Amino acid sequence: MTAEQLLNCAIQARERAYAPYSRYRVGAALLGADGTVYTGCNIENAAYPATVCAERTALFKAVSEGCRQFSALAVVGGAEEPDSCAYPCGVCRQVLSEFCPPEMPVYLLDGGHIVKLTLGELLPHSFSAAAF
Ligand code: THU
Repeated sequence: MTAEQLLNCAIQARERAYAPYSRYRVGAALLGADGTVYTGCNIENAAYPATVCAERTALFKAVSEGCRQFSALAVVGGAEEPDSCAYPCGVCRQVLSEFCPPEMPVYLLDGGHIVKLTLGELLPHSFSAAAF
């Protein structure tokens, strides 16, 4: 699975975003260690804080299906022409860090160009169970 393929999965997932309030549509694709791709979109709610981000939708789908090991994440959001970057929010970075290693690549798009980061770059010094 290439970065382009995983980003294309995220672009398709963005089609299913439910974002009538912000109109900011996000798609995520999380690659399981066994090669399965788990996609997610943001799902907003009239009670705004009940909204769930695309990244957490994808992760929760995966974990609830029994997958706990991941090798890459792709996220797209916002402008579609050219495709743009949605940097994962702080809550999603923390939730991802529970299951994903800091060296895991995270692919984003900026003006149609692929941006490659790692989860550890997005969330250095993460809080983890090692603290207690
Ligand atoms: N959103 C995501 O889906 N992922 C993020 O990492 C940032 C924000 C969504 C939540 C909400 O539906 C919309 O973007 C605007 O905040």
